[in-house]
Amino acid sequence: MILFFSGTGNSRAVAKRLSRNLGDSLLEIDASMDMNIDASHDERIVWCFPVHAWDMPELVRDVLNRIQILSGEVLPHFMVATCGDDIGKTHLSWRAAMKKRKWNPVSAFSVIMPNTYVLLPGFDVDTAEVRERKLEQACGQVDKISRAIKCHSNIDNVTEGTAAWLKSRVLSPLFKAFLMSPRPFHATDKCIGCGKCMTICPMNNIDMLKQENHPIWHDKCTMCLGCYHVCPCHAVAYGKATRKKGQSYLSVSEANIVAGAT
Ligand SMILES: Cc1cc2nc3c(=O)[nH]c(=O)nc-3n(C[C@H](O)[C@H](O)[C@H](O)COP(=O)(O)O)c2cc1C
Repeated sequence: MILFFSGTGNSRAVAKRLSRNLGDSLLEIDASMDMNIDASHDERIVWCFPVHAWDMPELVRDVLNRIQILSGEVLPHFMVATCGDDIGKTHLSWRAAMKKRKWNPVSAFSVIMPNTYVLLPGFDVDTAEVRERKLEQACGQVDKISRAIKCHSNIDNVTEGTAAWLKSRVLSPLFKAFLMSPRPFHATDKCIGCGKCMTICPMNNIDMLKQENHPIWHDKCTMCLGCYHVCPCHAVAYGKATRKKGQSYLSVSEANIVAGAT
């Protein structure tokens, strides 16, 4: 079974390719998922998710801590994290959370995909060339990971990046404390009230105000930025931070290529 979370489509496409290669079923992690699942007919559990601030997304951590998996303790578990650049020590956080559940973390992998983090100065989406190159390379990377998972390799193969410990253990907690609040989200005048942001929110954290037909954000946000990137009018803003930033939501054709559907 592949348990996956995705804000903007990258991890969903990777999960689908893994599923095609391994023959494993897919189960999406979101706020309304069933927290009692039966994996007794599965060969393994693969956790597939984006890296957020060199760590697991809050939603994934929460699900990992609470979910009841029938046969979870006898199955091998794997991690496949997608990232824009590097994952720091995310794999160690995942392993620590696994150990707390007395589950068996076998190996961890990362796949570089288009970057979606745009909230700080100096961070933006990739250029078209970089995006294309990343997507092309990701397919081969996921196929290699699938083979490693199939033969039960217990060797981690991740892009930690430079200063990995500092990023995951020092910067990440600061990031989460001060830079991950949903409060600055708002819709600008460009909003046409299509509701796409509300529909794709994995946390059900967005409602449309009836009179104005504009979205409002509540506090239950995992900061995937799906609402920002999916907006067809670039009308979702995060304070002033996103004024000059690009958008990155995996298109259907890109997703099909990565997933191996074409
Ligand atoms: C809040 C947030 C934090 C992120 N932090 C990192 C990071 O620490 N390292 C990195 O390489 N990419 C980071 N990214 C980029 C995503 O991990 C990457 O684009 C991922 O493939 C998105 O997957 P998704 O489309 O399934 O949500 C971050 C993205 C967001 C929205």
